[in-house]
Amino acid sequence: MTNKVTKHTFFEMNKRGEKIVALTSYDYLCTKLMEDTGVDMILVGDSLGMVVLGFDNTLPVTVEEIIHHTKAVARARPRAFVVADMPFMSYQASVEDAVRNAGRLVKEGGAEGVKLEGGERYVPVIEAIVHASIPVVGHLGLTPQSLHQLGGYRIQGKDHESAERLIKDAKSLEKAGCFAIVLEGIPWQLARRITEAVSIPTIGIGAGPHCSGQILVIYDMLGIYEKGVPKFVKKYDEIGRRIREAISAYALEVREGRFPGMEHSYSVDEAKKGRPPEP
Ligand code: KIV
Repeated sequence: MTNKVTKHTFFEMNKRGEKIVALTSYDYLCTKLMEDTGVDMILVGDSLGMVVLGFDNTLPVTVEEIIHHTKAVARARPRAFVVADMPFMSYQASVEDAVRNAGRLVKEGGAEGVKLEGGERYVPVIEAIVHASIPVVGHLGLTPQSLHQLGGYRIQGKDHESAERLIKDAKSLEKAGCFAIVLEGIPWQLARRITEAVSIPTIGIGAGPHCSGQILVIYDMLGIYEKGVPKFVKKYDEIGRRIREAISAYALEVREGRFPGMEHSYSVDEAKKGRPPEP
């Protein structure tokens, strides 16, 4: 599994009806662990703010923070296509801001594409970023940066009018040049309709099984982030629990003088052979 994934890989996969596998990542080590796992797209999501930086929502995340973490991900040289999230207020105020910030994520961060939230009214922004030769992923439905406008993390597109609006939004994002659209927190029936209505891939998160691919926040699916995980997250492990157990075992052994043992200690003989000297 060595072929580097490019924007075109997603068109080809979509044509063949192959599901796209996407995950978030925020650092070098996690990205390295994704090698040979079949992940096609890595998103340096602004979920960073919640799962890594400890904020209550994604709104405080800055362009600098996304660049910092995208650099770490890009340093792992993943096979997967790296998308950096455009944080809140990096593209809302003006088209010029949006192009400059998207440019920074690519030029300084090493991202291969960017993602931004919002429908039809972001068409001029998307067109301008695409015009600057930066691939764009759209994001519709439950868009966390609109938390206060939506009145909380609520499932979107449940009534006829908002469902039709989202289908129209998806078509305009495709027309504006997005190469994929994340669909978050919408009924699966609507996600299926949107997927059938556009020719670019849809990547679902809490949008049911009929999308062209799926994405999850890595710390959610590994069972590391334990604060308010939504229903759509399947936990593939309980690594948070296992980390806690490992740290407790270490603490106990240190307190009881059982760590380090001689197998983790250097002797004078080893020091002579060029191993680090004993203090
Ligand atoms: O920030 C993020 O991780 C995201 C995904 C949940 C799609 O936007």
